[in-house]
Amino acid sequence: MNVVFLAPAYPPEMQQYTRGLAEVGVNVFGVGDSAPGSLPPALKQHLADYLQVPRIMDEDDVIARVHAWLRGRRVDRVLANWEPLVILAARLRERFGLPGMSVNTVEGFRDKQLMKERVKAAGLRVPYAFKCLSEAQLREAAEQVGFPLIVKPISGAGSADTYKCDDQAELERAISAVRHVQVVSVEEFIAGEEFTFDTVSIDGTPVYENIAAYLPKPLVARSEEWISPVIITVRDMQQPRLQPGIELGRKVLKALGMGDGFTHMEWFLTPKGEAVFGEIGCRPGGACLVDQMNYTGDLDLFREWARVACWRRFEGPTARKYNTGIVFKRALGQGRITRITGLRDYMRRYGQWVVEDRLFRPGTQRRNWKQTLLSDGHLMVRHPNWEDAHRISFAAASDVTLYAGG
Ligand SMILES: Nc1ncnc2c1ncn2[C@@H]1O[C@H](COP(=O)(O)OP(=O)(O)O)[C@@H](O)[C@H]1O
Ligand SMILES: [Mg+2]
Repeated sequence: MNVVFLAPAYPPEMQQYTRGLAEVGVNVFGVGDSAPGSLPPALKQHLADYLQVPRIMDEDDVIARVHAWLRGRRVDRVLANWEPLVILAARLRERFGLPGMSVNTVEGFRDKQLMKERVKAAGLRVPYAFKCLSEAQLREAAEQVGFPLIVKPISGAGSADTYKCDDQAELERAISAVRHVQVVSVEEFIAGEEFTFDTVSIDGTPVYENIAAYLPKPLVARSEEWISPVIITVRDMQQPRLQPGIELGRKVLKALGMGDGFTHMEWFLTPKGEAVFGEIGCRPGGACLVDQMNYTGDLDLFREWARVACWRRFEGPTARKYNTGIVFKRALGQGRITRITGLRDYMRRYGQWVVEDRLFRPGTQRRNWKQTLLSDGHLMVRHPNWEDAHRISFAAASDVTLYAGG
């Protein structure tokens, strides 16, 4: 089987999916904008061929180039696991007449307005929302929705330009802050906890499911630099309070016509116990979420995704053994990391539960925490008991400190 995989080198976890594809016995034809000479040997060994394009986001240009490049060769699948490329993959599939989700179906996972309309039409609970193209529309929508409300871009990512408004003064501030955003969504603010619902699905039916808890909610984590955002996968998915979210998630996949592959949904659990839809993508979650899921069940979802996407079979174990927490750290100060405190003590106490230490070490330039949740690195921990996983994760949040300066 010959598979075109878009952007096999970037983001870095795409290299793991490439490996997974090779391991399930397919020839991987990579298409990306990285220079062939810059591809790591560990990636190259899994590529049957590679096409460098000047701009991977220029869909028409990529389609023309891939078409010319593949002339005379059979292709069986076109796949992408990075959000900005899922439409391009669908366009290529349509162009070559290949199986997989159509452009129209994938748009339901890409366009947040369309997504909510389709989910709502299936009788599922979505936030009351208005799409606004002007300030006047925004003000009118705010009046309809009432406080508290959320103002956010219709095609956002990583909580960028997203504001919670409790009153008119906050709305005015949000209005000026989103002036550069072309299309804005004004939504009813949903109170409660926020979770993911992640799947690997075949024909829209999950063969693997995961829930992770955001601690705190992504919007809060992105608003305060001092916070060390924690995300913990939930080992016990049978607990009654999560059932509405799982049920919602499964129905959303049907409502949107999901095919084969990864999905990553976000949902709210209200104080009344109701599950409310947030958003969904037909690709895996980022920021090491797939690694977290792998640690949760001791499996290799990079490979099992590939098996599903190519052969429509899932062979991984689904038993959940751990709650796996990731703790992202943000250094105090600007510039380069100068020192870390508390880590030695932390490792003495909890080292046996730590599965990854990717904290930036002295000399490393800080990342922009607003631009990437990855911030200045992370610790990943796992424990069979939820309370312990929670305690050990939050100990890393409060007891380990990175400093930067100069
Ligand atoms: N209607 C809403 N009610 C409450 N919180 C919301 C709402 N919409 C967005 N948020 C908060 O903002 C975050 C980002 O919004 P989201 O729709 O997930 O966009 P993206 O992740 O693509 O930036 C969410 O994770 C959530 O914390
Ligand atoms: Mg989101």
